[in-house]
Amino acid sequence: MKHAIVTGAAGGIGFAVAEKLIEDGFFLTVLDVAASPRPELADLLNGRGQYLCGNLADAADRARVVARRRGAQRAGRSA
Ligand SMILES: NC(=O)c1ccc[n+]([C@@H]2O[C@H](COP(=O)([O-])OP(=O)(O)OC[C@H]3O[C@@H](n4cnc5c(N)ncnc54)[C@H](O)[C@@H]3O)[C@@H](O)[C@H]2O)c1
Repeated sequence: MKHAIVTGAAGGIGFAVAEKLIEDGFFLTVLDVAASPRPELADLLNGRGQYLCGNLADAADRARVVARRRGAQRAGRSA
């Protein structure tokens, strides 16, 4: 399975990108500063992605999101 990281997916452009990538068969790791995904994003990611609350400007959060994506890849999907 193809994997991608999408930042800012709780908002307009990021959400649209996430929708398109899922339609194209990607498993997503999403990073956003919003504490939790809005319902439409939670539905979109259900079984097809994972959501992390974090700040793209923070190196530790960037490392965390990359590690989570690698973990999902190792698991063969689909965290
Ligand atoms: N909407 C437009 O027409 C347009 C046009 C050109 C450029 N832009 C730029 O593109 C970007 C996204 O636009 P949008 O309309 O989707 O905005 P939006 O506010 O709807 O979404 C932005 C998302 O990014 C998240 N976010 C903000 N800072 C973050 C950080 N440090 N780490 C992780 N997540 C963070 C927010 O929580 C939000 O979910 C903005 O920078 C905007 O200025 C937008």
